[in-house]
Amino acid sequence: MSSIIQREIKYMDETQESKLRLNDARLVDLVREFAKIKTLYSCALREVTTKFEVLNEDLSTRYNRNPIEFITSRIKSPESIVNKLQRRGLELSRESAVENLSDIAGVRVICSFIEDIYQVAEMFTRQDDVRLLEVKDYIKHPKPNGYRSYHMIVEIPVFFADKKRNVKVEVQLRTIAMDFWASLEHQMYYKKNQEDSGEIASRLKRCAEIIAATDREMEEIGRLLYAARQKELEEKKEA
Ligand code: GTP
Ligand code: MG
Repeated sequence: MSSIIQREIKYMDETQESKLRLNDARLVDLVREFAKIKTLYSCALREVTTKFEVLNEDLSTRYNRNPIEFITSRIKSPESIVNKLQRRGLELSRESAVENLSDIAGVRVICSFIEDIYQVAEMFTRQDDVRLLEVKDYIKHPKPNGYRSYHMIVEIPVFFADKKRNVKVEVQLRTIAMDFWASLEHQMYYKKNQEDSGEIASRLKRCAEIIAATDREMEEIGRLLYAARQKELEEKKEA
């Protein structure tokens, strides 16, 4: 057994193991199968991350501002892949995972302001090797719990020594404020089979709304400051 497989089996906890209800041999097989596609997805993540970094750098030299605060990425663990396939009643195989799951590779792009999200997303999807498959705009249409983010599923080509593979990547764009809310809500609440205690849910939703109002206000302040700075630069140029 290779060391990669051993490591992956190690970080599976008891609850996940019992949820999987697979015997050890089958599980080892599946984990080995999914380890093979890891390279494919980590290369796709690198491609997508680089594209956003390039956009940020270009906008920074051109307009003297950085729309992206930071970028994170993750690859779904083999256990989560098996779980999701089982949950959806899909075949447990590498081919089935690649075909049916669009969030094996995920990139999160944290922007300064709401308008940066739309601008960066537009510039990214306009690139001719990026194929936009799906958009979920949870900023214009927040989830009932208050969750906000801009989600895209894209497909990008990854070139290997002997072949080209089109790979799906889930991209989530958010402001720092949206990320703050989502991170805490995720830790406290998301996907935990907690009953929807009305009090907590409505307080979390209220927080999401306060945060959204703050985002809009910060954006307005940002616009005013930017306009003032541009005016100053113009005046300097004329002098
Ligand atoms: P999944 O099967 O969970 O991937 O949902 P989906 O296929 O309907 O996709 P969706 O675009 O709604 O959500 C995908 C991802 O967005 C999740 O894996 C989370 O990272 C994030 N997300 C969606 N809803 C919430 C939420 O209510 N709270 C938090 N914290 N994150 C969320
Ligand atoms: Mg998901």
